[in-house]
Amino acid sequence: MNTQTFIPISQPSITQLEIDYVTDALKSGWVSSLGEYITKFEEKFAAYCGTKYALTTANGTTGIHLALATYGIKPGDEVIVPDFTFIATANAVNYTGAKPVFVDIEEDTLCINPLEIEKAITEKTKAIIAVHLYGHPANMTAINQLAQQYNLIVMEDTAEAHGASINGQKVGSLSYCGIFSFYGNKIVTSGEGGMITTNDEEFYQKAKHLRDHAMSSSKRYWHDELGYNYRMTNMQAALGLAQLERIDEFIEKRQEIFNEYQKNLSDIPGLKLNFTAKWATNVYWLICLEIEGYTEIERNNLMDALKLKGIDTRPYFYPISDMPMYKNEQIYTPITHKVYQRGINLPCYFDLTDREIDYICSSIGNYLELNQFSAA
Ligand SMILES: Cc1ncc(COP(=O)(O)O)c(C=O)c1O
Repeated sequence: MNTQTFIPISQPSITQLEIDYVTDALKSGWVSSLGEYITKFEEKFAAYCGTKYALTTANGTTGIHLALATYGIKPGDEVIVPDFTFIATANAVNYTGAKPVFVDIEEDTLCINPLEIEKAITEKTKAIIAVHLYGHPANMTAINQLAQQYNLIVMEDTAEAHGASINGQKVGSLSYCGIFSFYGNKIVTSGEGGMITTNDEEFYQKAKHLRDHAMSSSKRYWHDELGYNYRMTNMQAALGLAQLERIDEFIEKRQEIFNEYQKNLSDIPGLKLNFTAKWATNVYWLICLEIEGYTEIERNNLMDALKLKGIDTRPYFYPISDMPMYKNEQIYTPITHKVYQRGINLPCYFDLTDREIDYICSSIGNYLELNQFSAA
């Protein structure tokens, strides 16, 4: 590697297939949210996830909001979400007027802890959003059992875990509905975009109606309730479809990338890479590296050092309950608060080479040696 080296944390793989489909969509003249690529993308995505229906949305955030609004989540309700996730999970709850209630995570999977969910349930609780973080599924078996016991609905935020599964069953099909993101750094991208998956026909039809301004199907320009424009364009769907047709190779490559990181870093004491539970298939959306005992400042110093080597990284998510709009003294999430400080995400994308991974790993090793890393 030379002084010009720059290894991004993520980048999409665009081949002739993507170019052909997008060009075709453009040439067809169907550039907005009608067109055959929308239908094809939705049908293929539903088949891939093993659900009856899939509905495209403008992005993952609007998808979560739409799912909550369709289910009837409203002011006065509470929705349980993990404290450790991307902000959109909590914001989407907030958009409905309901209150997101933050719950701690499991230290190994980094996903919401079912035991902590139970403690947070009140009379106002209506739903749980399980987030499959960084490519690892949340413990849906335990979460679904709990939800059944307390008569709650479960939704999966599957933005970061396309193709992950539990006992062979894909995420997005493991609860009432799943919501995916196709942002440019995701396993499958459509530029911007999202998808709701479900087996419930009534929910699907209502979500579709609300997504399209809630326009009456029998009386054009008559709107029978408050709707939204949360649609995806045909051009985005064309890109998404091409990517979906390549998803198996994307996931296979991510596993290989993880193996290469593991080969290089497993000998360094005090370092921990992505954990995978026995019951789960991980799709390694991002490589998670945790440095035992690191504080936020030490973690940031490592990231700065890697940046000087041309290596792009990102910090773990911050606890959402620490953000100004959600700050709440009563929230106690010790695992989230411990884990976020010591974690960074390393580059993981289709065109990343073994040579680049070796360079990233040796840069980390050298830095830790120079800084007399002695944890564990
Ligand atoms: C866990 C999680 N939820 C929701 C979203 C929101 O998706 P989008 O960026 O497509 O709105 C993201 C995307 O980054 C995410 O990582």
